[in-house]
Amino acid sequence: LLIDNSHLKWIVWTALMFAVAVVLYAMYATVSPHGARGGSWQGMAFGVAGSALMLYAGLLSIRKKVPRWQRLGTAQTWLRGHIWMGLLSVPLILFHAGFRFGGLLETALLIVLALIVLSGIVGLALQTYLPRLMKIAVPSEAIYEAIPAGCAALRKTADEAVIAVCSSLIQSASPKLVTVKPTTGDDESTGALREFYVDVIRPFLAPETMRLQDMATARARSLASQVEAAALFEHLRVRLPAEFYPALECLSDVCDERRQLLRQWRMYHYLHGWTFVHIPLSVLLLVLGILHAATAVYF
Ligand code: HEM
Repeated sequence: LLIDNSHLKWIVWTALMFAVAVVLYAMYATVSPHGARGGSWQGMAFGVAGSALMLYAGLLSIRKKVPRWQRLGTAQTWLRGHIWMGLLSVPLILFHAGFRFGGLLETALLIVLALIVLSGIVGLALQTYLPRLMKIAVPSEAIYEAIPAGCAALRKTADEAVIAVCSSLIQSASPKLVTVKPTTGDDESTGALREFYVDVIRPFLAPETMRLQDMATARARSLASQVEAAALFEHLRVRLPAEFYPALECLSDVCDERRQLLRQWRMYHYLHGWTFVHIPLSVLLLVLGILHAATAVYF
C-alpha cells in the first residue's frame, strides 16, 4: 500500500474540489449576515456533500464484502477514492458547521470524524512505511485470506507423511484397530514419532490456532522458534532409524512453512490493528449522523 503516482489524479481532483468549496464558502460566509450556519440552504448543501463523501468512504466495506461490487473497480481504486474523498469530507463538514461545535451530538460527531480521519492517516502511514523500515514483505489481503486453507493443507501433508510410516495417528490399545500394518520401522520408533507428532507437531499445525498463546502445549509453542524446532527434530532424529528420516524431513519442512504463515498472519494483524478503531467509529459516525439529520429536520 503506497501513496505513489497512481494517486496523482485523485490528489488533483481533491485539490480542485477543495478550492471550489473554499471559494463557495468564502462567498457564502461573507454575504450571510449572521455568518455561516448549518441550517441555511448553503450550509445544508455543504452538509449533504460532506455526508455523501463519508458514505462513499464507508462503501469500501460493502465493496469488500459483496462480490458483485468488485466489478465496480479494483480494490486499489476504491482505496484511493476512499482516502481522498474521506479527507475531503472534513473541510466540507467544517464549512457545514461554520467552524462551530454546536450541541453535544454535533460535538460528538465532529470528534468521531476527527478520530476516524486520524486513525486512517496513522494506519496508512503504518502500512506504507513500517514494512519498508522493517524490510518485511506484508501479505496482501488475498494471501491473508488464504492462510487458514494453507495451514489446513500443511496439516494434511504432515498427517499423510506420518500415516505412511506409522499406519495411523491413533495409538491403538488393541492391535485389531490398526488395519494397515506399519510400512516401516519397529513399534517403539513408530510410537515415538506418532507421540511427538500428535502431542507437539499437530497442535502446532492446527489451522484454527493462529496465536501462539492459544496453542495447546508449551512444546507445541516451541516449534514457533526455528532454533527450538531444530533441537526438537534433532532429538527425535537420534531416536529413530534412517527409514524415518524422509518423513522427519517432510515434517520439518511443513513446520518451516507453518512458521512463515504464522509470521505473515501476525504481520497482517500488526498492520491492521488500527482498523479496530477506524471501522467501529465509522459505524458510530453513521448512527450519530442519522440522529443529527433527524433532529435537524424535526426540531
Ligand atoms: C469519513 C471518513 C471515513 C470513513 C467513514 C471510513 C471508513 C472506513 C471503513 C468502514 C473501512 C473498512 C473497510 C473494510 O475493510 O471493510 C475503512 C478502511 C480504510 N480506511 Fe477509512 N474511512 C474514512 C476516512 C479515511 C481516511 C481519511 C483515510 C486515510 C487518510 C482512511 C484510510 C483507510 C484505509 C487505509 C483503509 C483500509 C484498511 C485495510 O483494510 O487495510 N480512511 N475506512
